[in-house]
Amino acid sequence: MNAEGRLAGRFVALGITGSIAAYKAVELLRLLRAEGADVAVLMTQSATRFVGTLTLEALSRHAVESDVLALQPDGRIGHVVIADAADAIVVAPATAHWLGMMANGIAGDVVTATCLASAAPVVVAPAMDGEMYEHPATRRNVARLHEDFGCAIVDPELGALASGQTGVGRLAALPLIVDAVVAAIGDRPIRAPGAARPALVEPRHEEDLAGRHVVVTAGGTAEPIDPVRFIGNRSTGKMGMAIAQAALDRGASVTIVAGLVSVAPPEGARIVRAETTETMRAAVLHELVAPDGGAGLDALIMAAAVADFRPRLTADTKLARGGPLVLELEATPDILAEVGRISRGSDVGGALGRALEPRPVLVGFAAETGSLARAPEKLRAKGVDLLLANDVSQADSGFGTDTNRVTVYSRDGDADPWPLLSKHEVADRLLDLVAGRLDERDAGRQTGGAPSAQETTR
Ligand code: CTP
Repeated sequence: MNAEGRLAGRFVALGITGSIAAYKAVELLRLLRAEGADVAVLMTQSATRFVGTLTLEALSRHAVESDVLALQPDGRIGHVVIADAADAIVVAPATAHWLGMMANGIAGDVVTATCLASAAPVVVAPAMDGEMYEHPATRRNVARLHEDFGCAIVDPELGALASGQTGVGRLAALPLIVDAVVAAIGDRPIRAPGAARPALVEPRHEEDLAGRHVVVTAGGTAEPIDPVRFIGNRSTGKMGMAIAQAALDRGASVTIVAGLVSVAPPEGARIVRAETTETMRAAVLHELVAPDGGAGLDALIMAAAVADFRPRLTADTKLARGGPLVLELEATPDILAEVGRISRGSDVGGALGRALEPRPVLVGFAAETGSLARAPEKLRAKGVDLLLANDVSQADSGFGTDTNRVTVYSRDGDADPWPLLSKHEVADRLLDLVAGRLDERDAGRQTGGAPSAQETTR
């Protein structure tokens, strides 16, 4: 999805009815997504005979709704969720039959039911045989949709029709339909961001991380003040757990080094508890280097919010309330920077004295407030391959939210702003990059090739 597109942040329902032009809806879906829209597909039963739901599901990443009574995985009624959340509904192609049903409010199919149940603007692009389009019944139904119900109509074009005849009835050019959706939404506010929308379907992945050991740190650290109090932060572990789940789905063996978390870890991961920065450091370094001195992991993803300061001294007994309390804080060790140095073999006083083989892919997160300007320097200072920076002061992009808006900085100097995504989507896209880098790494090792430009600039 395109964050700069005319439909960025919008949720569009695409209704497909049973015309031969239904195949064009696949391309329409792609164009709507290219404009930045999140799109869910609604189909009449006859439309499912023209084009496969699997294609539309894979491209839209939502379950296709073709049954008025179908429920979402979370128990909500699918088409009602879409009706409530859609910024626009576009019915393309719309058959003569469907126009008749809609003109009379007969909610026998999921497309009509959604249009009736929604306050969203509706765009209708008819497609049918020329004689059918000219029939007074069709003309009256189209007029009713436009004049009585306020639907925008994208008129069909003159051209060769499936019947072999030439006439007016061919589905309008797809860019015109996209333009009509953009115009229908105008500057209306976004109706329902995030969780109010239908759930995203996890893409079916090949096991491109099979045989890899991926270590993910998750949650926040807790630095003790006394036996009952600590300095902590607002991290819940959602982002780290989403990454761990996505890595498991791709066949990786996954270790989660968990600080304080308030979400359950995915089944199948090995869990190492590490609540302070010091124990997290020890746990990560333990995973990093295998007993034979080689790399113990293929990728380290530091999604944990590690404390930057900790009390210099921890009281043995609970501090009693008296006058004011002054705590002296000291800086914590930077775990990721140390891992970066060890991986490169540049750790001063490090036991290895040489680079880790094979070199692991290192990923950091940077939680910033206001500006991401410091991210490139953080990436360099920590020696990581990728740094995902987000502005945690944004309501949709911080601790405990289900969504995240990150900019991905990479060692080659790229900065790629991703649109607002669910944390699961961020995890998946991140693992696409990690899997790609691991494959490149291994291809380089097999050919015994010269170090890449990236490696020589380290
Ligand atoms: N990190 C770490 N050890 C620390 C602090 C942070 O390994 N003591 C890791 C985090 O897990 C994260 C990355 O470093 O992946 C960036 O964390 P962030 O807090 O944004 O960076 P800091 O180095 O702490 O910089 P600053 O406090 O100046 O923002």
